[in-house]
Amino acid sequence: MRNLPVREAVKHLAIFGTTSAGKTTLIQLYLQSLARRFRPDWPRPEQLIIFDGKNDAVPMLSALGLHPEDENVFILNPYDERGVA
Ligand SMILES: Nc1ncnc2c1ncn2[C@@H]1O[C@H](COP(=O)(O)OP(=O)(O)OP(=O)(O)O)[C@@H](O)[C@H]1O
Ligand SMILES: [Mg+2]
Repeated sequence: MRNLPVREAVKHLAIFGTTSAGKTTLIQLYLQSLARRFRPDWPRPEQLIIFDGKNDAVPMLSALGLHPEDENVFILNPYDERGVA
């Protein structure tokens, strides 16, 4: 994962693991390294779409300076009014 180029990761990436294997931690670290691409000051901010099944994405993104209110950030969670679905 440490040496996975972004151009490869954005093709197809799936993370599987048993409970507490470290899936969320891995996603968090990966997002940390990509966060600048989604910030408003990036030349052409890219779209970030997150399915937030456990209601933990918003605080995680917030720590990275990203928010569901940003026009290129989409949270998919029917139980969160900040979500798009
Ligand atoms: N590489 C690692 N080395 C040591 N501890 C780790 C590592 N990755 C994750 N952990 C720790 O393991 C615990 C579970 O991690 P995490 O929440 O990422 O797992 P998960 O697979 O998302 O779990 P769940 O299935 O419950 O969503 C956390 O306390 C985390 O800090
Ligand atoms: Mg998890």
